[in-house]
Amino acid sequence: MEQLKLVDLDHVFSCPILKLQVPGYKNLNKKISSEARLWRKTAQGINVSNKGDSWHSPDGLLSRPEPGFSEISAMFPKAAAIYVKKVGSDIDLADYTFEANAWVNINKRGGYNAIHTHGRFHLSGVYYVKQPSVVSGESGMIEFVNSRFDHHIFRELNTNAFAPKISLRPNEGDMIVFPSTLLHSVYPNETDEERITIAWNLIFQRKDKATATIPNPSQLLKKGKATLKI
Ligand SMILES: [Fe+2]
Repeated sequence: MEQLKLVDLDHVFSCPILKLQVPGYKNLNKKISSEARLWRKTAQGINVSNKGDSWHSPDGLLSRPEPGFSEISAMFPKAAAIYVKKVGSDIDLADYTFEANAWVNINKRGGYNAIHTHGRFHLSGVYYVKQPSVVSGESGMIEFVNSRFDHHIFRELNTNAFAPKISLRPNEGDMIVFPSTLLHSVYPNETDEERITIAWNLIFQRKDKATATIPNPSQLLKKGKATLKI
């Protein structure tokens, strides 16, 4: 009997979560860790999803002059561009600018992030600067929740494609990228070590629909806007 021939498998309505590793992350993370701690000493955090001993910096990381912050900021549009291509979009990024913001999270013992989205944007990302070396249970894990209503039907199939939720603990130097509308939360840090991450949001805007002209990309990246040069 002849075998069935695979013609195609199309992941329609999918929810891709991309993981990248940033080159030279060890040195970069040393710089970012000290820059983040210093920022925390000099700036009041803001209250968003962060709870417990969780410091959420102001949103202006992209305009900070520190070398570590600047270096990682340049990676966000690159990561977004990789994501767009990997999920099969055929848009020409040369036709687009983007708007972005970014901030630092420092979760100490008990710090966590309640469930939320970043829904005004297209893509969101988290870069892992410092992860506690002690790993236990769900401490510090990021959890994504399936927004489909039918996942309970597929429980027996035991696959992430239909799971009700998934939890990740990326390594230091990893950057994950996901749709901004995807519900997510961060479990409490159950260690005495800091968990430091940088979070970002990005929305693409067609140049012919953008309201502002952008004369100097390198300057405007610091303000959160730049042309896309990947
Ligand atoms: Fe978030």
